[in-house]
Amino acid sequence: MRTIDWVPGPNTGHIRLIDQTRLPGSLVELDVHTVDQLVDAIGRLAVRGAPALGVAGALGVALAVDTLPAQEAMGQVARLRAARPTAVNLALGVDTALAAFRSGGPDAALAAALRMRDQDIAACRAMARRGVDLLARLCPGRIELTVMTICNTGALAAVEHGTALGVVEQLHAEGRLARALACETRPLLQGARLTAWELERMGARYDVLVDSAAASVLAAGGVDAVLVGADRIAANGDTANKIGTFALSLAAAHAGVPFLVVAPETTVDGGTPSGEQIKIEDRGSAEVCEFHGVRTTPEGATALNPAFDVTPARLITAIVTDRRVVRPPEQPGTPALNEEEA
Ligand code: MRU
Repeated sequence: MRTIDWVPGPNTGHIRLIDQTRLPGSLVELDVHTVDQLVDAIGRLAVRGAPALGVAGALGVALAVDTLPAQEAMGQVARLRAARPTAVNLALGVDTALAAFRSGGPDAALAAALRMRDQDIAACRAMARRGVDLLARLCPGRIELTVMTICNTGALAAVEHGTALGVVEQLHAEGRLARALACETRPLLQGARLTAWELERMGARYDVLVDSAAASVLAAGGVDAVLVGADRIAANGDTANKIGTFALSLAAAHAGVPFLVVAPETTVDGGTPSGEQIKIEDRGSAEVCEFHGVRTTPEGATALNPAFDVTPARLITAIVTDRRVVRPPEQPGTPALNEEEA
């Protein structure tokens, strides 16, 4: 089953996606026939994760240009592009399909979106292989590894396979996963709900971890690596990812544990010089002050709710993409971000 895909129809097709707000309780698919529905699904995180958002953006353009008059379609596409600001893949997906439409019409837009879907599947496979090979080099002599992760970077965040969780899945497939530790990822619990659901389906050994326990668990020893995904990687290697990732990187550095970012090349944003320029989505108070519609804070309380943070390049041991392994330039004696290591 794919997280997101295109369903061809007799006249026009539509998008089908797994409604991630219903997991882990129910595995339900959502049929999306309009850009309005897609923007709503993105806003409430029914579809989420940078690679999946990229494909959603591209398929959304295909839907718009196939079903709406040109001017209306462009307005809808602009709304779609702005639906979430941090993951570069959403804008990239929209821009890629839009460029194809401008040169070749609606069929070309759909073809570009489907290419993006297929490239994501191949990229995730390549990252899984590369990540496992790198871990073997970083953890010599360790047969079975214990790894920690945050948010959900599995198949649910992409199309068919994941990024950081794709590496975990590959370790498990090779019999080399001792245990995965999934940070629960407050406030929307992508780790507890989605990563745990994927690990359960894999049959992997895992524990869910309260976010605030991660630092002391790392400091206690026994974790071989921290693996995280990315929403946008700036040209200098600074990496935006789910809120809490920066704290994990600090704890990993304190504990001397390798901290790896696993993300496709499509998440590298050469146009953003450093993390300072990355726009961080603010998701408002309600997600923090309420839980499943029940108020957990006093009436009148407000909350800060940045959905992402930026991990400085110097705290990242390596970035694994589908094409290369790079050590951010701040890592002494290692190649710069644009140099290939492997
Ligand atoms: O708010 P979300 O759930 O879309 O955040 C997702 C993340 O931060 C992921 O780690 C990132 O998009 C990489 S997914 C392979």
